[in-house]
Amino acid sequence: MAFPSQRLRRLRSTPTLRNMVRETVLTCDDLIYPLFVVFGQNKKIPISSMPGVFQYSVDRLGEPIQQVAELGVPAVLLFGIPETKDALGSSAWQEDGVVQQAIRKIKELSPQTVVITDVCMCEYTDHGHCGALDEQGRVINDATLDLLAKEALSHAEAGCDMVAPSDMMDGRVGAIRKALDDHGFSHLPIMSYAAKFSSALYGPFREAAESAPQFGDRKTYQMDGANRLEALREVELDIEEGADIVMVKPALAYLDIIREVKDTFGYPTAAYHVSGEYAMLKAAAANGWLDEERVTMEILTSIKRAGADMIITYAALDAARWLKG
Ligand code: PBG
Ligand code: ZN
Repeated sequence: MAFPSQRLRRLRSTPTLRNMVRETVLTCDDLIYPLFVVFGQNKKIPISSMPGVFQYSVDRLGEPIQQVAELGVPAVLLFGIPETKDALGSSAWQEDGVVQQAIRKIKELSPQTVVITDVCMCEYTDHGHCGALDEQGRVINDATLDLLAKEALSHAEAGCDMVAPSDMMDGRVGAIRKALDDHGFSHLPIMSYAAKFSSALYGPFREAAESAPQFGDRKTYQMDGANRLEALREVELDIEEGADIVMVKPALAYLDIIREVKDTFGYPTAAYHVSGEYAMLKAAAANGWLDEERVTMEILTSIKRAGADMIITYAALDAARWLKG
């Protein structure tokens, strides 16, 4: 029936025609750029497993923020590397903590840049886990909720535009929502790391954020990568608790989950193109094995095609440059 009356190649014959029928178009507005902010002065420290990514001290944030603003990347996602760590991660909610200072600095440098903060304990605890521990070294869920709520509130008070809890405790979105609402921040959105899988692709990040667990792994709180229905339950609960944006993480190995989350809930959906995904691209490109620009844009477009409305990626500045031609 179809052939020869139907010939799909007709609309592929020129670049202009291909542009006209393109279904998915990545734009700068889709991108969120992660930034690592380190304590101290005059620091720009390269991350060996993530070429092009640095830890910046607050006084050096002008450089990346200027690029973000000039390239039209709408948002940054902040991670802090504090000077001191303890069992409860108490430097996470200090008024003059590294993220709190960075928020104020970025809002001063570029008021229109949306400042999102990662809310988790692993960068601030001396044991590197995402919450408080009991005597057996297990992460205690409900006690951790209070710590996360304090951290989120402290970011809000410093002037962030959105908080992004990444810890995977049960009930954290509700606890953070309540703390924000009780203190005059009912307008502040929450982007929850809703379906966050326990992934080996976070390896390079743990170098960048100095947040590797000192023992064990994160499998008692992050999800098993084999589970699709559980991912939908995680997203459903976060929405019930008040999440405004739901995230799937990592991205490329979980495109099916992104699609299903988007189709099932129709919520603004974010995908985190994580450190290991970035490192693989950079390594292959450095060896001359892949065309970095073309492969990066192909992957970011596929994440958007899968249903992501926004993509957190270390390649955001590169992608913005390539989009500008
Ligand atoms: C903190 C956090 C992690 C990432 C984002 N927030 C690491 C982890 O859970 O171990 C990973 C991001 C990346 O790999 O780029 N909980
Ligand atoms: Zn964590």
